[in-house]
Amino acid sequence: MMTRETVCVYEDITASAQRIERKYWKMVLGRVVGPGCPLPAYALPELSIMPGHSEVHPNDVNLGTRLGCVSLKIPFLSAPMGDVTGAEMAIALSGHGGCGVVYRFQRVQDQIGSVKEALRRRPFLVENPKSLRPDDTVREAQRILDEFGFSTIPVITESGAFEGIMFTDKVSFKEHGEDLVSVWMKSVSELKTVRANTPFNEVQQRSRNEQECSILPVLNDDSSLAGFYFMKDTADANPVTYEGKPLVGMAINDREEDITERVIPCLDLGVGIVVIDSSHGNCRAVIDQVSRLKKVIGNRNVCIVAGNVADIDGYLRLSAAGADVVKLGIGPGSICTTSIGTGIGYPMFTLIQKISFARRYSKRIAGIVTADIVADGSINTPGDVVKALAAGADAIMGGKMFVAASESVSFLVNGTTDGTVSYSGEASEKAIRARSAENRYGKGKRAAEGVSGSVRHLGPLRKWFPKVLELVCGGLAHTGSNTIAELQTYCLETIGAWAILTPAGREQNAPRV
Ligand code: IMP
Repeated sequence: MMTRETVCVYEDITASAQRIERKYWKMVLGRVVGPGCPLPAYALPELSIMPGHSEVHPNDVNLGTRLGCVSLKIPFLSAPMGDVTGAEMAIALSGHGGCGVVYRFQRVQDQIGSVKEALRRRPFLVENPKSLRPDDTVREAQRILDEFGFSTIPVITESGAFEGIMFTDKVSFKEHGEDLVSVWMKSVSELKTVRANTPFNEVQQRSRNEQECSILPVLNDDSSLAGFYFMKDTADANPVTYEGKPLVGMAINDREEDITERVIPCLDLGVGIVVIDSSHGNCRAVIDQVSRLKKVIGNRNVCIVAGNVADIDGYLRLSAAGADVVKLGIGPGSICTTSIGTGIGYPMFTLIQKISFARRYSKRIAGIVTADIVADGSINTPGDVVKALAAGADAIMGGKMFVAASESVSFLVNGTTDGTVSYSGEASEKAIRARSAENRYGKGKRAAEGVSGSVRHLGPLRKWFPKVLELVCGGLAHTGSNTIAELQTYCLETIGAWAILTPAGREQNAPRV
């Protein structure tokens, strides 16, 4: 039987890639194109999708997707960037059904620690909330409210027993400031509680169906407080689990020791996705890393993502080496200057559509079992997400989109003084300088291919991300699609599904007030 590897040996992948390329352009332009001939490639904002007859309501849209052997409830990954994805982002995004990929440019133990922390946590469970003692005065509750903005404060004894909750809106600080908290708190016997090992869907059912359940304290076996669930948070939750834990990803580079030092310990912890993260994935080092990783992962249900590439040849080679998913995108990232610096890159829409075309034909033409597709870079609005999926991506990866959240590494580390969150490209001058200070990763790299920037801080993911998802569902519903696969079929089979926008069309697609 021919394995992927043997096919790789027998097939001339470059020739196959060229045959598919020619076929793609014949489809797009209606004529045969020769080598070296400049061809029109589009970025996502240059297109829009024609709506179609629909009997689908956005609430009925299912955004579920598969990446290799791993199922996600929404097609979103957060980028493995030092300012974006640590444990907090990974746990928060898994709570909405996506997956955060913990960044690689950090010490081995720090990366493993973040993966471990994200896998230990339960999405939406507020752990270690600011607490009061029963013999504190109401004045102390006021201080916590004023300083941290928390109006629901657990009351815990010195020995750690959970006594009740102080709801600050139930007491007048002016009149009762000197009263003891124990007088005003709602005691544990009057509260609904839940055991620490209760499955999340049960928690969600209870918080939806039961009265007086705006907050659900979670108790350990010894009756100490494990944390709180707030009903307003859990209402939009859609957590994705992987072998009973949150789905968490990690990034590595092409060095062999990245597998031994980083991946192997994280496989034992339960990491679900490993991303081989390179700015140029169509090279020997990345292909070899895919093969090595494949051997180490063996028959575990762990998804191998490799990238980034922007050519059919790269997509086929990484697929042939055993990648479950290939990540697309060279040049379009919001903080990327690769195209300016080196002249290399490829616009995102045509890239996704072309690779998706290659995916359909490569089995026949090159005999290769092809990988799923993640589009990475410049996917910043819900509309971009819909277009990327419609063009053929199984999921998207976002850097700029997620750095705006309170769970991003940058916000957690730097906070905000002016309502914005700053972030830097992994190949920006700032990041290169920081790495060479550590004297480990900076070797050789001096010229930046990225910049630093900032985005408006949007608050915790739970406050704004459900709205992004609602808009994406709206996009699918506009084409009568219940699922991502139906959206892709609509765009493939409908004549005129894609409109290439003229400058006036683009202008009309934006607000002009
Ligand atoms: P964004 O979603 O448009 O912000 O793009 C995020 C993606 O940009 C990441 O997932 C990386 O693939 C890519 N990226 C991150 N840092 C750099 C850099 O410094 N130069 C070029 N590309 C980068």
